[in-house]
Amino acid sequence: MRQPQDFGLVFFHTGENSRLFMMTTTPAALKSAGDVPNGLSFVRHPLVQHKLTILRDRRTPTKIFKEVVDEIAMLMAYEATFDLALEPTDVETPLERTQGQRVAGKKLTLVPILRAGLGMVEGILKLVPAARVGHIGLYRDHNTLEPVDYYFKVPGDAPERDFLLLDPMLATGGSAVAAINSLKRAGAQRIRFLCIVAAPAGVKRVREAHPDVPIICAALDRELNQHGYILPGLGDAGDRLFGTR
Ligand code: PRP
Ligand code: URA
Repeated sequence: MRQPQDFGLVFFHTGENSRLFMMTTTPAALKSAGDVPNGLSFVRHPLVQHKLTILRDRRTPTKIFKEVVDEIAMLMAYEATFDLALEPTDVETPLERTQGQRVAGKKLTLVPILRAGLGMVEGILKLVPAARVGHIGLYRDHNTLEPVDYYFKVPGDAPERDFLLLDPMLATGGSAVAAINSLKRAGAQRIRFLCIVAAPAGVKRVREAHPDVPIICAALDRELNQHGYILPGLGDAGDRLFGTR
């Protein structure tokens, strides 16, 4: 079987289908992410990995960056919702009545962490147009790197809903932990965190604080620099999405 080092990869995936939990990481990645990265899953689909490389490219202009975040979010959400509960429903085809299936329960709720998480919403809404959308406003203090919250709004019946928390970047994990704390205070019980690039430190922090919240990412990168940026990463996701800098 091929080995990660054969390809110069930080991680790669094995498995015959694209189910999330078929994931292999190198020993180095395992070690820095905490010995057991239970609950961390990769979307290994080639289209996601191809598009991620476009995001990483410093030359990618804002317009393309935005479009590609949108596409990756849609592809990742397809994987992240693979086990949503279904219920039977009758349907009339042009020829006869038959039984189909539909997603059961309350509508899925997307919760972007502002700002950069906003870039993931539209792509997922193309797949799940009836999803509700909450918002959590957080920014990282430049000196302490700790999150400062400024906005919170989610649907009132949180305990009955499935939440997809969205942020392209999981760096120190401070923002994700604070966002999950707020969602749980509002009553959320089923939360999945969808990010595009994760750092080992962030994975560890979220898993320690919220072991019940699965993390789904497209890549687990090497480390953080002294300013809390992910290496190799893709830079400041919010600035690249919205053309601010
Ligand atoms: C970025 C990113 C995450 C956070 C990740 O947001 O979108 O929310 O940093 O870092 P952490 O894991 O160390 O908390 P930022 O604070 O730059 O705000 P912005 O999206 O408004 O630019
Ligand atoms: N936030 C970003 O947007 N990028 C990073 O690399 C880390 C935090």
